[in-house]
Amino acid sequence: MIRVNPHYSKLQASYLFSEIARKVSEFQAGNPDKDIIKLGIGDVTHGLPPACIEAMHKAVDEMAVDATFRGYGPEQGYDFLREAIALNDFASRGVTIQPDEIFISDGAKCDSGNIQEILAQDARIAVPDPVYPVYVDTNVMAGRTGKWKDGRYQGLVYLESTANNHYVPALPSEAVDAIYLCFPNNPTGATVTHDELKAWVEYAREHKSLILFDAAYEAFIRDESLPHSIYEVDGADEVAIEFRSFSKTAGFTGTRCAYTIVPKACRAYDAAGTVQDLHFLWNRRHTTKFNGVSYPVQRAAEAVFSPQGQEQIKALNDGYLHNAAHIRQQISTLGYDFVGGQNSPYIWINTGEDSWAFFDRLLNEAAVVTTPGAGFGACGEGYIRISAFNDFAKVEEAMQRIAAVLGR
Ligand code: MLT
Repeated sequence: MIRVNPHYSKLQASYLFSEIARKVSEFQAGNPDKDIIKLGIGDVTHGLPPACIEAMHKAVDEMAVDATFRGYGPEQGYDFLREAIALNDFASRGVTIQPDEIFISDGAKCDSGNIQEILAQDARIAVPDPVYPVYVDTNVMAGRTGKWKDGRYQGLVYLESTANNHYVPALPSEAVDAIYLCFPNNPTGATVTHDELKAWVEYAREHKSLILFDAAYEAFIRDESLPHSIYEVDGADEVAIEFRSFSKTAGFTGTRCAYTIVPKACRAYDAAGTVQDLHFLWNRRHTTKFNGVSYPVQRAAEAVFSPQGQEQIKALNDGYLHNAAHIRQQISTLGYDFVGGQNSPYIWINTGEDSWAFFDRLLNEAAVVTTPGAGFGACGEGYIRISAFNDFAKVEEAMQRIAAVLGR
């Protein structure tokens, strides 16, 4: 008798953003005339940078003729893209990452979800709270947690990120094996300083743990003092894997391209305590389960690093940050406490009410979609997240509608 993976029965009914999409469809079906404004899931709304489109067109033309056609590419990504990343994202900030330490993929969601496959079944996992649900759910699916109880999974170590610690969690009081961190943070929009990150790297080195660092939102950092990569901290290459993405950086949410850095120095251990090579293991997993991102998409991603591409993505992201500034200003006028939106596209607002009820109120009365904080964990209860990914006119309109509802 074939049995299902029993760990799936521990999961909450549906993935957070699927549940929100269901509620939004239901509302739209009942209110076909309402013009819903979506500031929920962090999905970009502007066209791809022209430099990327031009490169993609050229690559499509190459695919049309035998002489330049390409079949299977290297699973880890083409050298032209890996070299461009190593040079522009790392060497330019004084960080040495070799091109072959970079694995191109179709998404940071997939990579940050899949990475736990190369870790031991009994690894003790620490996640921030609130947290991007992918880190949690994938460990539940893998059987690394107990049951859901009182809003949390047993067996996971939750690192509380609250106003009291400026949304940067304290180091765990117990030893953990793997720690997920995300800065600029999803969902709070909080950032981490170099010294705070250094403390995490020191913790990981001392406890022989591994940091899984999600830097998907680094392109929104405008404060020059903030680190863009965990590898800006000395010694991090031995204890950290980093996830990056073109999704938010360059508007690739529908185009799909991301990358994960697994330095060759990055170490883990077997049961006997012998050092193991995580780069080798991730390469083994990646080449077995993934066949590479399409050639035209990798050429489009490479174009992000051209001078025109850099100028265009800066303008794109400055536009989203302008939206974020407007949301911050409006929320402040309404008298709510909030964080984020300065080096991040997300604004995290303390509503002082049940967060799903607040979400429902904004959907039903303002036709504006946000994300209820409780969907990101127990510490998110009472909060909502507003995403700045939309056109400025829509953001302005959404904030007017929200002000009208909350000002009643
Ligand atoms: C979010 O809204 O949290 C993100 O868009 C989700 C994702 O990147 O998968």
